[in-house]
Amino acid sequence: MNHKMFSQVFCTDNVNKNASGTVALASTLENAKMLSLLALIVPLIVSTSCDEVSSLNNRSFPTNFKFGAATASYQIEGGWNADGKGENLWDWYTHTFPDKIQNRDNGDVACNSYYKWKEDIQLLKDLGVNHYRLSLSWSRILPNGTVNNVNQKGINYYINILETLRANNIEPLVTLYHWDLPLVFHELGGWYNPLLADYFAEYARLCFKVFGKYVKTWITINEPQTTCVQGYGIGGKAPGYLHSGEGVYQCAFTNVLAHAKAYHVYDKEFRASQNGRVSIVLDSAWAEAASDKPEDVLAAETAMAFSMGLYANPIYNGNWPQIVIDRVGNRSLNEGFPASRLPQFTPEQIQLIKGTSDFFCLNTYATSYSQYQNTVNESIGTPDYHLDMGVRSYRDPSWSAVVDWVALVPWGFRSLLNYVWNQYDGVNEIVVTENGWADVESTLNDTARITYVSEYLSALLDAYYEDGVNVTGYTVWSLLDNFEWTNGYTQKLGIVQVDFNDPDRTRTPKESYGWYKGVIARRCLLESCVN
Ligand code: NOJ
Repeated sequence: MNHKMFSQVFCTDNVNKNASGTVALASTLENAKMLSLLALIVPLIVSTSCDEVSSLNNRSFPTNFKFGAATASYQIEGGWNADGKGENLWDWYTHTFPDKIQNRDNGDVACNSYYKWKEDIQLLKDLGVNHYRLSLSWSRILPNGTVNNVNQKGINYYINILETLRANNIEPLVTLYHWDLPLVFHELGGWYNPLLADYFAEYARLCFKVFGKYVKTWITINEPQTTCVQGYGIGGKAPGYLHSGEGVYQCAFTNVLAHAKAYHVYDKEFRASQNGRVSIVLDSAWAEAASDKPEDVLAAETAMAFSMGLYANPIYNGNWPQIVIDRVGNRSLNEGFPASRLPQFTPEQIQLIKGTSDFFCLNTYATSYSQYQNTVNESIGTPDYHLDMGVRSYRDPSWSAVVDWVALVPWGFRSLLNYVWNQYDGVNEIVVTENGWADVESTLNDTARITYVSEYLSALLDAYYEDGVNVTGYTVWSLLDNFEWTNGYTQKLGIVQVDFNDPDRTRTPKESYGWYKGVIARRCLLESCVN
């Protein structure tokens, strides 16, 4: 049975799927015959961009499938020094190096959600989501990072949010750490310092204890790859370090160790009484081989191993991916190092880390092609993560994109879901914890976002129904336009527009919000589905 349905896509300017839009168009039609024609075609309309033909999966989302929206503390809260909150890495980075951020923006006020959180929850409620993915600000709860000094006002802030979510029947997916490291730990070396794993486990224990009553789904760390590659490797995010050859791996080591220690705290001390589950959010673009040549196929495998694999392999399969061990090891020796630049896990650490995830959390935005690049002996003497990988990555210029890290490639998303499903041991469920479209204008008429999300959700249904991948949830990034890290407020991903020039940070739902609300209500990408 072919589950695809081809449907002509109409301009949302001309045709709107809701009843008033239908009436508006109908009033321009001349006779009743046209009206009945309209009645026939409306169920097939998919509001994306003009003059395109789209094919969307016409099956219903499974009954247990959950829809959600996501945000993160530093990106939305503001209140950067309110009520006893301690300084964190991004407070320090944006204040100390304002020129590293587009327009010298910072998160001091952001969406002002420290004060406007009730409005955010109302937006979620009206949207009809099953879950809300939010993160806790470590230094709001522990101003100095350590559990000897707890900020009750910070705890109360999150309890209020969690209680209100509960009252509105919205499940919280709580991330303990979304890049806003208490500054004191940065001064101790940040993620280079393996001791951070123990401090993180202590913080996690406190959160499980005080918030566990409300939270059944815990995410330890958000996208360690982004932290390690951009924060410690190529300098694109705080702390902006350029230690590509060593920093990325040492950061990865500490991150997976920190995750594992927090997982075991939950497992040993809280699981029996709280009955929740714990995972880590891992991100990757899909790496597609540039050709069928064996060296390009290997290049794509290598790209996946150096991106997602550095974090997923220790957690799901045990130890680093062999390809990473081999490549970094060989280059390190050629460079004159006495041992590999890749830190080694002890056998005990391999066991401690392996199996520390109850389900897989996936963030993804893009796809790239991978082509073999012979770097084994190239530039020896310059330790470099990308030379270690030895892959030329590039995008097809025809792919629709506004910013350089998001591209409309739904087949890549489907391949990635299949890859995660098949590559990692013990994965019996995948939740998409972030996916979304970036523009620069925050237009309310965001048809490109609707196209992107509808096609990605369609690819998700293909993966579920046709490939047998058990993907049980989708979380759009983001509920709100927000502080997009070093891009400041220049890149917008919200389904709700925020006016950053207005002291009140007025929120206005975009068309994608109404469209997503409809999908959630119908549990179907079209007006009606086959099952
Ligand atoms: C990754 C991060 O988790 C989130 O903080 C960021 O805003 C989005 N993806 C978009 O870059």
